[in-house]
Amino acid sequence: MKNKLIIIGASGHGKVVADIAIKMNKWQSITFLDDDESINTSMGLEVISKTADAFTYKDEADFFVAIGSNTTREKIQENLIEQGLNVVSLIHPSAVIGTDVEIGIGSVIMAGVVINSSTRIGKGCIINTSSSLDHDTAIEDYVHISPGVRTAGSVSIGKGTWIGIGSVISNNVNICSGCKVGAGAVVVKDITEPGTYVGVPVRRVD
Ligand SMILES: CC(C)(COP(=O)(O)OP(=O)(O)OC[C@H]1O[C@@H](n2cnc3c(N)ncnc32)[C@H](O)[C@@H]1OP(=O)(O)O)[C@@H](O)C(=O)NCCC(=O)NCCS
Repeated sequence: MKNKLIIIGASGHGKVVADIAIKMNKWQSITFLDDDESINTSMGLEVISKTADAFTYKDEADFFVAIGSNTTREKIQENLIEQGLNVVSLIHPSAVIGTDVEIGIGSVIMAGVVINSSTRIGKGCIINTSSSLDHDTAIEDYVHISPGVRTAGSVSIGKGTWIGIGSVISNNVNICSGCKVGAGAVVVKDITEPGTYVGVPVRRVD
């Protein structure tokens, strides 16, 4: 671990991520990289350069990719890993993490999250504010679990899928890779084809 953290992405999501890093109290300096030249600071923290310059800080900083889009986050994070940069995970001190839980690199666990026993979280995931994942859940790489989502036990969610705010996923349900599940949706059966699903219970709209 280095004493500096560089967060890629200074937007709203980046601010929440930076707040978690501050509360973890592990880094002496926290700064951003962002491609929007009009942003010089975010939440009082300096934007020091653009994403492409990450490699120039390789030996002095840890990195975190705070980009909401699952595909963009994957692309940037995989590039950083390939180039040997040290990508870290961030866990808010108020999160409750059960026994035998694995959290992949570059994932963030936000305030008020509960992750119960024997759950696996892949690389680059966003486990957003006040969501709860029950026992034996499997979250693949680059998934976004939005605020207030509830998953029951033994749920699996495929790579790059986005679960919308406040959704509920019943026990033993599998959701495949490449899905969007709308805000407030209820999923009670497996979703086996990539697409957009909304409603209670969900129906496919795209
Ligand atoms: C599911 C979602 C991605 C669809 O967005 P979209 O592709 O732009 O779809 P549209 O807005 O064109 O909606 C398509 C249809 O689905 C309906 N719909 C969209 N979202 C819905 C939802 N969450 N629940 C119920 N119906 C919904 C629309 O009313 C529309 O129905 P219609 O064709 O009968 O008029 C989006 O509505 C959504 O729920 N996003 C979640 C946002 C979120 O969780 N943000 C958290 C960020 S941290």
